[in-house]
Amino acid sequence: MSPHERLRALYLSKPVILAPMEDVSDLVFRRLCRGLGAHFCVTEFINVEGLLRGCKRAKRKLTLPEDDQPTAIQIYGSDPDRLAEAAEMADEAGPVAIDINCGCWVPKIAGRGAGAGWLRDPDAMVAMAKLVVSRVKLPVTVKTRIGWGPESHMPIVELAKKLEDAGVAALTLHCRTAQMGHSGAADWTWAKRAREVVTIPVIVNGDIKSGADAERAMRETGCEGVMVGRRAIEHPWIFREARAMIDTGVECPQPTLEERIALCREHLLANVEARGEQHGVAVTRRHLAGYLRGIAGAAAIRQSLVLTDTVEGCLAILEDVRTRKQMARSPMEASV
Ligand SMILES: Cc1cc2nc3c(=O)[nH]c(=O)nc-3n(C[C@H](O)[C@H](O)[C@H](O)COP(=O)(O)O)c2cc1C
Repeated sequence: MSPHERLRALYLSKPVILAPMEDVSDLVFRRLCRGLGAHFCVTEFINVEGLLRGCKRAKRKLTLPEDDQPTAIQIYGSDPDRLAEAAEMADEAGPVAIDINCGCWVPKIAGRGAGAGWLRDPDAMVAMAKLVVSRVKLPVTVKTRIGWGPESHMPIVELAKKLEDAGVAALTLHCRTAQMGHSGAADWTWAKRAREVVTIPVIVNGDIKSGADAERAMRETGCEGVMVGRRAIEHPWIFREARAMIDTGVECPQPTLEERIALCREHLLANVEARGEQHGVAVTRRHLAGYLRGIAGAAAIRQSLVLTDTVEGCLAILEDVRTRKQMARSPMEASV
């Protein structure tokens, strides 16, 4: 199967995709989400300048072990030639696709013409994408927003067609403008409009918070798949929930207490193995509050975890939660 056919087959499976998220969508988290039903993952964005300078952090993000497939590598930059050069490096790492970030709104990136900065000059974005496509063997995809903001008519529909003509293999649409950052509601109707003018797959992204949202986003937009970001940080079970709703229309049961604690342990131990104790414990914390949400006494448990720096200490707290009789008997307080 050629790389393009392989990617097309993935989109035919109505994929539920883990979004690229800096300091979140690393190898450990990708493995964990894949285990819970994510079909396909995208790396955190990689700065092309760092990559071309040989920066260790950038090169580490480019490394995909065999079990980390299918994963697309995302790159960002403001110079078309440098992006093309970095894409050639990414090509050799064997991802399922090379994704170009045209959606990051953060001023230090967009203000320099990278990320969503490309939306200020859509024709330049198309020319850049065309150049990158011409330089690599693997499929090139683009993740972008509906426009810079606050245009009365968003450029995305026309842009989607031009990106397709430039040879882009698929488009992911975060349905907000760059100026909205993460505020306001994502407007999926733009994904529908973009989807209607192209034949390449379009993936809808923004505010997908449940299995029902995922199913509705696909149904309302006609998109090939959905991408989930923030909800996965606190509730990675969304992948299996979305899978169940999309495939069968059946709601998946909420994770049990045992599953929640098992996931906390798994994530913690994997992060400690990958980064050492101090850093591993610190980076797992942002997830644990969400993983434990709904458990009786969750606020106090969270508080103790925040104050604990050792893996043994965290595991002891989790074990205590698991074994305390009243916790084990207590039903989940609220649905999450
Ligand atoms: C912590 C964080 C880091 C992010 N990093 C990236 C990134 O590296 N590349 C990218 O294209 N988008 C990035 N995003 C945006 C997400 O991929 C996604 O488009 C956005 O969060 C909207 O989806 P959601 O509502 O499901 O979170 C990031 C978002 C968050 C919250």
